[in-house]
Amino acid sequence: MSDLSSPRATVAYVTSRDAPDMEIGIALEAFGRVGLAAEAVVWDDPAADWAGYTAAVVRSTWDYTTRRSEFLAWAHRTAALTTLCNPAAVLEWNTDKTYLRTLAGAGVPVVPTAWVGPGDPLGEETAHWPELVVKPTVSVGARDTVRTTDRAVAAAHAAALGAAGRTAMVQPYLPMVESEGETSLLFIGGEFSHAIRRGPMLAGAGGGFTDTARQPDADQLAAAEQVLAAVPERADLLYARVDLVRAPDGAPLLIELELAEPRLFLSHHPDAAGRLADALRSRLAAGTA
Ligand SMILES: Nc1ncnc2c1ncn2[C@@H]1O[C@H](COP(=O)(O)OP(=O)(O)O)[C@@H](O)[C@H]1O
Ligand SMILES: [Mg+2]
Repeated sequence: MSDLSSPRATVAYVTSRDAPDMEIGIALEAFGRVGLAAEAVVWDDPAADWAGYTAAVVRSTWDYTTRRSEFLAWAHRTAALTTLCNPAAVLEWNTDKTYLRTLAGAGVPVVPTAWVGPGDPLGEETAHWPELVVKPTVSVGARDTVRTTDRAVAAAHAAALGAAGRTAMVQPYLPMVESEGETSLLFIGGEFSHAIRRGPMLAGAGGGFTDTARQPDADQLAAAEQVLAAVPERADLLYARVDLVRAPDGAPLLIELELAEPRLFLSHHPDAAGRLADALRSRLAAGTA
């Protein structure tokens, strides 16, 4: 990454060793345009001098899923040395999808989910779901995720996750993910910025479609606002991505709230990267990040 480094860098764009992050260039350029010299830094690089940066913006740290406690220890350590975005407490809360249970408890419309701890059965509610998705609570990019109509297969996958000490979550498969797609709403500096229509990840070869910019529907915007309103640290968020899929009755449901390391689809809206840079600069100026 030496081609991206700058001797005067004040912002660390936090990535991972092998992350195929296509947004680094566009983000660093936008930061530079508002006077924030920035460079990409690998989160677990032992040589990184975090105290030397005004801010560390967590972006493509996608390898944390297999060593989450190491990642969170890094986050808390780093937050004591520089301004970490998003804050360490937010990263801790948001990197385990059990936060969805908290949000559902707060009245947010969440995809129905049965939580299956190690050794636990699938959960009675899953008997009514014709097709199941079984995934670990700590994951990115649909890793270790299974879609099946066979309850024995679902139970076996949950048991395998449990045997590895992981909590599984079981959901009904939402077929609208293949027609309307998943809608990701991006919020930057607390404001809605842009939205993306995303293809299904569990539909097999040829079942997907390309990510494209889209206008969110009014009910999706309202649902996303409701999600963010339920996050106590909302005012401290540099970025947030709200991922929605419609239920069979059309209601938008939260599938994932991404506050840790979401792809922000910066190249899908001409102002997105500039908004991120402006939001970071005003946070640093206000000293509130
Ligand atoms: N209940 C579901 N119904 C339909 N598709 C799902 C469901 N759960 C997950 N998927 C598919 O798998 C992808 C990844 O799941 P997600 O819950 O977003 O976890 P992550 O992105 O962290 O791996 C989703 O973007 C979606 O395409
Ligand atoms: Mg997702």
